[in-house]
Amino acid sequence: MTKRFAVILAAGQGTRMKSKLYKVLHPVVGKPMVQHVMDQLSVVQLEETVTVVGFGAEKVIETIGDQCNFVIQEEQLGTGHAVLQVEELLKNREGTTIVVCGDTPLITGETYQALFEHHEKTGSKATILTAIAPNPTGYGRVIRNAENEVERIVEHKDASTEELSVKEINTGTYCFDNQALFQALQHVSNDNAQGEYYLPDVIEILKDASESVSAYLTPDFEETLGVNDRVALAQAEKTMKKRINESHMRNGVTIIDPDNTYIGLDVIIESDVVIHPGTVLHGKTTIHADAEIGPYAEITNSTIGEGSVIKQSVITDSQIGEQAEIGPYARIRPESILGNNVKIGHFVEVKKSTIGNDSKVPHLSYIGDAKIGTGVNIGCGAITVNYDGMNKFETKIEDNVFVGCNSNLIAPVTIGKDSYIAAGSTINQDVPEESLSIARARQLNKEGYASKIKKRK
Ligand code: UD1
Ligand code: MG
Repeated sequence: MTKRFAVILAAGQGTRMKSKLYKVLHPVVGKPMVQHVMDQLSVVQLEETVTVVGFGAEKVIETIGDQCNFVIQEEQLGTGHAVLQVEELLKNREGTTIVVCGDTPLITGETYQALFEHHEKTGSKATILTAIAPNPTGYGRVIRNAENEVERIVEHKDASTEELSVKEINTGTYCFDNQALFQALQHVSNDNAQGEYYLPDVIEILKDASESVSAYLTPDFEETLGVNDRVALAQAEKTMKKRINESHMRNGVTIIDPDNTYIGLDVIIESDVVIHPGTVLHGKTTIHADAEIGPYAEITNSTIGEGSVIKQSVITDSQIGEQAEIGPYARIRPESILGNNVKIGHFVEVKKSTIGNDSKVPHLSYIGDAKIGTGVNIGCGAITVNYDGMNKFETKIEDNVFVGCNSNLIAPVTIGKDSYIAAGSTINQDVPEESLSIARARQLNKEGYASKIKKRK
């Protein structure tokens, strides 16, 4: 097999994005566009990948640093000029170079592979990946001759009215014979509407030199979207979201409303999970079988155990056991570990706490820096008082404790197992196991006193 190389064009500022962030670093489903390109390229066997950077070079290198080599394009004089920057690295290497743009995040590895195969099979010096665009505005158009052979590519801004009506577009992805590419690039000029050195001009140059040029027309235009502005960015997001959701559905996940469900690329979901509308799953999240998520749950870098139900809640960097019930309106903050059959009800916040199996925090509580055992019941409105304004302290609540409503547990404090805390208590000393602790003012009833007050009025 001929050796394969890749050049990723990522030096442009992306003026049309109107952003501080360099275009290729704009995320699609949370991952920078250029990283999508790198990941999909990994499907084809590459000898070497070189990314051309310029605007925001440092940031781009920081993002994909260890995955490829870089060359700097000091001035952004066009895509042809960008490819020339890798000449020293590649011109003497025999093989095929795929050139891809850093702003086409949806092209799949399978399509890259199909393009290589077409190029190798036809023995062409250049093969363009093309697609039929329902609305080709902004793209370079593929101009074919009477024999239907590719003649050249004309940029939108340079095209005649007739050429503008062509729907076959240049996706910005090409396979080239290395030597032919760098020879042809010597002849590219910047005599065009944008005053740039266009890479697509190489096609006409090769054709004029009687070299064979072909096109591989991919049936899926959606995949080839070039993201030049925020409108296209939203389209890319939508397409990627659809792709991800459909793959989960095919794997046995029910997604009630795929248009309103947002699942990150690294999320793992087992079969028979049901996802309700408005759910957002980010990062390294795993949802085990038979769980029910949403509506309106946002879960980041967390694990949800088998059969658990998570309603309208936010869960971050935490682990939830099996058959647990969370929400509605609960917030589970980082480093929380909740056991099996745990119940966290509405308006409960849990932070950096462990809650053992079968424990319940059903209503209006704050649990922070706590270690709670199994079978514990935390009454409505009870809270851990974990912060004195300077330091955080730990609350330990051992197995089978019952904490009455509206209690304050002032940390550091330990509630021994099987104890009861009377409602409304403020506990600032350890409670021995199997005790009842009451820490509130005694009630005093002054009988008949109400009439005295009324008389004063
Ligand atoms: C380009 C193609 C167009 C094609 C479209 C597909 C050219 C002249 N036009 O247009 O035919 O239909 O992609 O999406 O190639 N870049 C550099 N250095 C530069 C200029 C650009 O590295 O000097 C990089 C950009 O960062 C970007 C890529 O090349 O990732 C493409 O540049 P862009 O300005 O987006 O070209 P388009 O106008 O989209
Ligand atoms: Mg573009």
